[in-house]
Amino acid sequence: MNHNDIQFVLCQSAAELAAAAALIDQRDDNAHPLDHQAFAQSRAVILAKTLEGEMVGCAAIKAGSGPVGELGYLVVSPLYRRRGIAQGLTLKRIEVAKTQGIALLFATIRDENNASRVNLLKAGFHFWRNYLSIRGTGNTVGWYYLALQESVDIDGIMQSLVGDRVPAP
Ligand SMILES: CC(C)(COP(=O)(O)OP(=O)(O)OC[C@H]1O[C@@H](n2cnc3c(N)ncnc32)[C@H](O)[C@@H]1OP(=O)(O)O)[C@@H](O)C(=O)NCCC(=O)NCCS
Repeated sequence: MNHNDIQFVLCQSAAELAAAAALIDQRDDNAHPLDHQAFAQSRAVILAKTLEGEMVGCAAIKAGSGPVGELGYLVVSPLYRRRGIAQGLTLKRIEVAKTQGIALLFATIRDENNASRVNLLKAGFHFWRNYLSIRGTGNTVGWYYLALQESVDIDGIMQSLVGDRVPAP
């Protein structure tokens, strides 16, 4: 099976949302526990489904409004990795973001998450800067962006998003 046998669809029911949340709860990348309430308010949740209807991945544009959108909650079932599913989920999120009028997408990734970084860069994202985690863990977090409209003030927006976080040494 490859990604051609996978459908990338918008999540449209409470049952599917619960199944996606369960998938995220099983994440094996040391992520912080899922905030179910915030997840339910996502601007869009995209599901990766096999032709048999099994959910094998999900990803979201996080809760929020206005011209800036944040990607998050990306997970692919361990048995289905390295087949382009994360990439498909990310390309679909970009497509949905455009229909929502989002002008700039951004994402934050822990330094050690190479798979996610490559996934973003392949989808056209650019690295902006590294900052220390706001949680005070000393982790380095990379900030990435993708402009979806011309004449977006990338630096101005990114600077306001990072706020008073400390640049990573
Ligand atoms: C990160 C994750 C979503 C990637 O899912 P995936 O479907 O395997 O990713 P893709 O097959 O679309 O990979 C896209 C590209 O990323 C890179 N990549 C993916 N997994 C990788 C790995 N383990 N090591 C190095 N590069 C990797 C590859 O370049 C890959 O393209 P290629 O296979 O053609 O070389 C998946 O590993 C996962 O669910 N991890 C746990 C949760 C997580 O880390 N979520 C992201 C938090 S920001």
